[in-house]
Amino acid sequence: MQLPPQLLDILRKASRVTVLTGAGISADSGIPTFRDPQHGLWSRFRPEDLANAEAFKRDPALVWGWYEWRREAVRAAEPNPAHLALATLEHRVPGFTLITQNVDGLHARAGSRKLVELHGNIMRNKCFAEGTVVEQGVDDGEPPPKCPRCGGPLRPDVVWFGEALDEQHMATADKAARECELFLVIGTSAAVMPAAHFPRVALQSGAVLVEINRDETPLSAVSHAVLRGPAALVLPHLLNTAWPGN
Ligand code: OAD
Repeated sequence: MQLPPQLLDILRKASRVTVLTGAGISADSGIPTFRDPQHGLWSRFRPEDLANAEAFKRDPALVWGWYEWRREAVRAAEPNPAHLALATLEHRVPGFTLITQNVDGLHARAGSRKLVELHGNIMRNKCFAEGTVVEQGVDDGEPPPKCPRCGGPLRPDVVWFGEALDEQHMATADKAARECELFLVIGTSAAVMPAAHFPRVALQSGAVLVEINRDETPLSAVSHAVLRGPAALVLPHLLNTAWPGN
């Protein structure tokens, strides 16, 4: 793949880089995306049956079981070269922020630390009644496990449809989008707000926007450069070309 020389130059010199990732970056680790017409989660399941508070109230065991199934896939998965490349990039750029919509925790497992998990983390649970994170639930034989404090059912600590995002996470992501020189948007269909807004915020603030995606998205037309292909190939190639021999 030919990389624009200007992009390599900007990447090498940038002191503030912000990255937004979506399900596409974990696709090469075997985790299904949401909107792929054949294998995407939302082509096989209805979000309104599984990913909102009403669905959980209606049938907590069903929703819990679905998340347990997704957790199995996450446990079996390993970070891929794209996750690892971003963990490396964090050390090369003084002002680096990685915003992810993914709940799989693979960025943290790859070593990323300047990380905002905008939609939560599927491996963490919280009490449905109190909203507090619970390390160890009580198993009474009937899923889901219960909160050791109040006895309420536990739910995964992820953002469901209709729920607000964490304010601190939003503020950090917004600041990083406003202040960066280079914004990389990777493996997201840019269909879900407010995450999809951040690349446009960066653009409006004067950043160079680069998309890395297998397919076209609404951001392709407004990006300064588009690198088409699987993130697990494109990102390591980008880093190896920018800093050969490292
Ligand atoms: P989507 O499934 O909507 O989009 C995945 C994107 O990744 C698409 O643009 C694909 O073309 C692209 N893609 C697939 N494989 C790729 C690969 N190997 N390399 C690069 N790109 C690839 O997933 P998201 O945009 O992450 O929210 O979805 C956003 C949110 O919608 C999710 O966080 C989730 C969902 O509803 C919540 O659950 C709150």
